[in-house]
Order: sequence, then structure tokens, then C-alpha cells
Amino acid sequence: MIHIPKAEYTRRRKALMAQMEPNSIAILPAAAVAIRNRDVEHVYRQDSDFQYLSGFPEPEAVIVLMPGRQHGEYVLFCRERNVERELWDGLRAGTEGAIRDFGADDAFPITDIDDILPGLIEGRDRVYSAMGSNAEFDRHLMEWINVIRSKAHLGAQPPNEFVALDHLLHDMRLYKSAAELKVMREAARISCAAHVKAMQASRAGLHEFSLEAELDYEFRKGGAKMPAYGSIVAAGRNSCILHYQQNDALLKDGDLVLIDAGCEIDCYASDITRTWPVNGKFSPEQRAIYEIVLASQEAAFAEIAPDKHWNQAHEATVQVITAGLVKLGLLQGDVDELIAGEAYKAFYMHRAGHWLGMDVHDVGEYKVGGEWRVLEVGMALTVEPGIYISPDNQNVAKKWRGIGVRIEDDVVVTKQGCEILTGGVPKTVADIEALMAAAR
Ligand code: GLY
Ligand code: MN
Ligand code: MN
Repeated sequence: MIHIPKAEYTRRRKALMAQMEPNSIAILPAAAVAIRNRDVEHVYRQDSDFQYLSGFPEPEAVIVLMPGRQHGEYVLFCRERNVERELWDGLRAGTEGAIRDFGADDAFPITDIDDILPGLIEGRDRVYSAMGSNAEFDRHLMEWINVIRSKAHLGAQPPNEFVALDHLLHDMRLYKSAAELKVMREAARISCAAHVKAMQASRAGLHEFSLEAELDYEFRKGGAKMPAYGSIVAAGRNSCILHYQQNDALLKDGDLVLIDAGCEIDCYASDITRTWPVNGKFSPEQRAIYEIVLASQEAAFAEIAPDKHWNQAHEATVQVITAGLVKLGLLQGDVDELIAGEAYKAFYMHRAGHWLGMDVHDVGEYKVGGEWRVLEVGMALTVEPGIYISPDNQNVAKKWRGIGVRIEDDVVVTKQGCEILTGGVPKTVADIEALMAAAR
């Protein structure tokens, strides 16, 4: 299995600690277990920031980083080994495993955190944490601080600055390393295979969930634990619902089906959308819309390179989509004026993409100092223009209504431009029709 190597986690912790102010401490909790119903839990997924710094896959754990500390800069609180619990729920690393397998300098049982952590915080000037994102953890942190305050008369020194960790950490996460790109390519490869399978399986009379099953099978077979987000399998008019998740409608002859789905490998997402005809053959109207979306995506790729800014790709899609809609008579007027008046938003109401990484809508700023961010080598993003003609749009001829098309690929910025990670699924009309015809 392709995964992030242990040395990379060490490198990340060192890089973060090098950016922290002197005499500071960073504290991050693992994701909590989420209850699905009664005593059934959701599949556990580690918090992305926690995972990024540790690779430690268990709940009930806390990372503590103390740059410059002589007795160890990286302390991990985690669950202790427990024969009885491990018999029921699976193996745990324990404090020994945290040191041996996950590079902690020191490790303590999570049950001892209230006794130990105030002593680690005491005397440090600044505390870095993800303030505001986990109310329960914020409350704990204040309790630990108050323990120190209560001992002020004995000379204990509580920290007096609290700093949001997000800014440093999320900027690091925005630039993907060679190891991260390897994992993202693997996630992309498996997701491409899944989309191909779903295209080949597509038939009128099946249901949206029949195609979702094809995706899930390929994801799991490829070693993915789960999809990176709820798969969207939207046939016919459902393709006009941007985050449709019901996935239970019938696939009908003559309809398009839009699938937006990607798996996650070692906590790295892929995010692919393809749209194709259920019966394997685009109608003239479906094809006309499809060709505009595809051309707009090509125009966007040309705007992704170092020194281009974040919004240029989006602007390129708006230009091509607006001009295309005018050509088909779906919008009337001057293209530049229609763009200025945002007339395209009736058909194209989302942006051309987002950062991609451990979170499908990944962290990282889109603007810096009020200006769109300039792209740099190693940034990963999606390119996903679409046109959605509402089934209720009375301003267009009936033949267009209910057509929804999105095409989405994942790219990483390179020195020359960008590398497309998800090129393994056909997307020209000819290639899709050929693939589907061969599967009939
Ligand atoms: N799958 C969600 C998105 O494309 O942004
Ligand atoms: Mn996306
Ligand atoms: Mn998507």
C-alpha cells in the first residue's frame, strides 16, 4: 500500500516547530469517535491536522509539540494497551507503540493528561491550538490553564498568549510534497478505475445506487477505506442538484448521469466528476452542453501555472461557458456584458475548483492581503466547471431543461503548468461513447 512514510511526519513536525515562536507549545486533539445510532459508531476518520503531524490513527489522543524541550519535543498522549478492550475493538499502539512506531519522544496514557499537561504548559509563553473548532477541547485547554493559574501564588507561570495554529499548519498543508503526490496519484488512479467501471456498467433500468455500488467496489478493492466524501450519483434532472446524495432514482434511457466521487488513500482525497449518457449515446442537446463544459475545462487548465493567480482558471471557465450559452441561444446579449452582470450564474453557480488534499475542500487561503493567491509548484486543486439547466427554467426551450453536466479533474501545479492526476477516465464525447459501446 502506498502511504506517507514515517520520516515525513517527523519532517512536518520539525518544520512546524521551526516556525513557532520561542518558548511555545502546540496542542492538538485527535478526532472524536462519532456515534451513528445507539451503540453503533461511524467509521473512524482521524482529524486531518492531527493525521498530518502524526500519522497516528487512533481516537482519544493528543499531540503536544514543545520546540527546544530537552527531554523531548514531541509528546503523545494516547490510550493504553488493554487486553480486554483490544479483544473487542482491535489493537492499540499504546504508549510504547507511540514511541516505537510513531516517533514520539515520550508518551503518556490519555487518562493522565489532566495531571501531566498543565506541567508541560507551565512556563511557556504561547499556546498554539485550533481555537474555536472543538468547543470541548477549548474548554479542557482552559481547565489546564486554570490549574496553572491556581498555583500562581506558588510561582507557577501561565501562558499569556493563545495563537491559532491553523495559519501555520494550513499553509504547510497547501504545498504537497513528493510523498503526498504519490499518495494522491494512487487515490486518483483508483478513483479513475471506479468511474470507468461505472461507465461500463451504465444501463437503463438500473438505479443510481447500482452505479454507486460499482464505485464502492473499486474503491475498496484498491485499498481505500472509504470515499473522500458522499458519492453523488445523479441521473436525469437530479444532475442539476449540485450536492445530490439520495442516489436511489432509476436510470432512464435518454438521460445523462453525473457522478462526482473519489476515494481516500491514507487520508488523501481524490475528487472526480464525469457525466455520461445512461444509454451510451449523447443526444444533440446533451452533447452541445457537454462540449462547452469540456472546452471551458481545457481553457482553465491553460491558466494553471506558477505565477498565475487563483481566480484566472475560474475566469477562463466563465468566459467559455458564457460564450457557449450565447451561441446556443440559452443566453442573449453581449458576452462581456453578460459576464459583468453574472448572467451565467443561472447555469453555472459554483466556482471552478478548490484546494485538494487531506480534506476534499482542503485548507489554505485563497486570498493573501486581499489579492487572489498566486499559484506555486506543489499546490493541488480541482478544475470542475459545469452547466446546470434547471428543469423549471421557463426561459429556455423545453429540450434543454434538466440537463446537468460537470467535468472535474484533480491537478497539481508544476514548473511548466500543471499535471492532471485524474486523466485515466475518458472525457471526450468520442472516448466516452467508444468505452460504453465496447461494454455493451
Ligand atoms: N465533491 C464535491 C466537490 O466537487 O467539490
Ligand atoms: Mn470538487
Ligand atoms: Mn467533486
